[in-house]
Amino acid sequence: MKNPSNILITGGAGFIGSHLVRHFVHKYSDCNIVNLDALTYAGNLENLRDIEHFPNYFFEKQDIRNPEALQKVFEKYRPEGIIHLAAESHVDRSIANPIAFVETNVLGTVNLLNAARHLWGSELSDKRFYHVSTDEVYGSLGEEGLFTEETCYDPRSPYSASKAASDHFVRAYFHTYGLPVVLSNCSNNYGPYHFPEKLIPLVLKNIREEKPLPVYGDGKYTRDWLWVKDHAEAIDTIFHQGRVGETYNIGGNNEWKNIDLVETLCDIMDEFLGREAGASRRLITFVKDRPGHDRRYAIDASKLKNELGWQPSIEAEEGFRQTAQWYLENEEWLLRIGSGEYQAYYKQQYGAES
Ligand code: NAD
Ligand code: TYD
Repeated sequence: MKNPSNILITGGAGFIGSHLVRHFVHKYSDCNIVNLDALTYAGNLENLRDIEHFPNYFFEKQDIRNPEALQKVFEKYRPEGIIHLAAESHVDRSIANPIAFVETNVLGTVNLLNAARHLWGSELSDKRFYHVSTDEVYGSLGEEGLFTEETCYDPRSPYSASKAASDHFVRAYFHTYGLPVVLSNCSNNYGPYHFPEKLIPLVLKNIREEKPLPVYGDGKYTRDWLWVKDHAEAIDTIFHQGRVGETYNIGGNNEWKNIDLVETLCDIMDEFLGREAGASRRLITFVKDRPGHDRRYAIDASKLKNELGWQPSIEAEEGFRQTAQWYLENEEWLLRIGSGEYQAYYKQQYGAES
């Protein structure tokens, strides 16, 4: 699509959203970037301090569960492009409270689809509704194989079920109403500003504080890790060049068993902190498994590479080192994030103070 004048990004105060907003605000200075975010526990405007004064950046604290509020924002900015990331995003929280995931991920997405339909009417040329989704909708792989765009949906956690439902609604609006949608399903991201409920930031935080590193089950669960800034690049590419109605898988081609990943993070942190080799590995603690834990995710991103030329830019080890460095240099951010709600969550999930 041609460069729009106004793009609305939902969930821009979260982990991936903040990288995406920063990327768009810098790169598309002629375009107004509106960040719509409810600022849940996972949303943090501190993630965007460096760009909040840019003239093409706007923030709206609104909840996608509220259709009237959405309509007002849509009428105010009249976005030609919507990139939808706002979601409840943590599997363990979805196990504890599935309803919140239905409300935000399913109902919130349908509210946004309706708001876009209402605003655009039949003027659909050069409009785009981009839905950011996850590889978890495809279910769990065995030792072999990769998820392609043709893999049947088989979500197995309340989180992935809610994302799968939202994907289906987005495609239904394309087929039924001709809404110009595009979707991507991405593997696990890592990098700066990652909320420390997820594996990598939680482990980095706990290594620093010399606290137990909880590894679920046998630790041989496998994830395909992608540097978050590469995800932002991929979204930019697909938003501008992806074919309407299509889905693109995004992955890091970077599979790690959890235990190998945690050990690698321990070794990097020992080096950075000047601890003796092997010190942090002693903090590894195998804990009760996650119910319904998906064994392995791995992405075949060849469609995106062959059609649009995107591929990951950085090697895993380098990405992990940069991430560890960022968490060491941003203690204040971690301290503020780790107060209040996080303490209560950590206690409930791990039975200990964070
Ligand atoms: P996150 O939890 O860090 O951020 C979510 C953001 O959405 C927060 O800023 C939060 O305040 C906002 N939000 C939540 N509920 C809202 C509501 N009702 N109304 C408005 N805003 C609301 O999530 P993330 O890891 O950055 O993930 C962003 C998107 O990417 C999600 O849709 C997720 O499913 C998808 N995704 C994430 C990963 C990953 O590894 N993190 C991988 C693939 C896809
Ligand atoms: P997570 O970062 O929650 O992402 P997802 O579940 O969406 O893949 O978890 C990544 C992997 O790490 C997953 O297999 C679960 C595991 N894990 C642990 O072993 N311990 C933990 O404390 C957490 C949060 C995750």
